[in-house]
Amino acid sequence: MSFPKAFIFDLDGVLVDTAVFHYQAWRRLANDKLGFDISHEFNETLKGISRMDSLDRILALQDVQFSDAEKTDLATLKNEWYLELVQQMTPADLLPGVVLFLEKTRAAGIKIGLGSVSKNAKLILERVEILHWFDAIIDGTKISRSKPDPEVFLKGAQELGFDNADCVVFEDAVAGIEAAKRAQMRTVGIGQPSVLTHADLVLPGFENLKPADLYKLNSNANI
Ligand code: BG6
Ligand code: MG
Repeated sequence: MSFPKAFIFDLDGVLVDTAVFHYQAWRRLANDKLGFDISHEFNETLKGISRMDSLDRILALQDVQFSDAEKTDLATLKNEWYLELVQQMTPADLLPGVVLFLEKTRAAGIKIGLGSVSKNAKLILERVEILHWFDAIIDGTKISRSKPDPEVFLKGAQELGFDNADCVVFEDAVAGIEAAKRAQMRTVGIGQPSVLTHADLVLPGFENLKPADLYKLNSNANI
């Protein structure tokens, strides 16, 4: 297995803890507008899933029917509540070790990409002041399919100019690991091994991590 030439990072839950904000905003919508709650376990299944697809999954919980216009209103409201939380973010909200790892990655000559289905990705990268680190940004404005579809990572490799096999993906979502595997990329799960069971390696975060630690990373058989 060759040395990786590019690292592609998911955003929410990998570089910043916005996965918590998404959950808070969806939960508020479910409680205030739909009349039911959503569990932490169910929320895991929303990670890496686009805004409208997430809403569809939530509505399917209780088999409630809404028109397309009503669904757009609900998704817009959730996004407004989500952005209220994002507006309070500062560089202090970056997850531990992220900036140092980006610095070491660039110093090692490895390109840096973003692979997120969020339409708010650039705004968040600006708020936490790491936008300038990225050689390519693929976000929800450039793709049409949520993870686990590999589109976001395939476009990332393409924009960076490398083969898929030369890219390593960092992901906190089960759907994101699956998307990267489908793109034939090596995967580092950020989170718990019990959740990210198909990742090639699972780490709690970036603290004390060096790019060279990942040179030996081998891709498991496809899931
Ligand atoms: C992903 C999150 O990164 O982005 C999902 O894991 C979220 O929870 C999706 O639904 C879309 O985000 P946004 O910001 O476009 O609503
Ligand atoms: Mg994520």
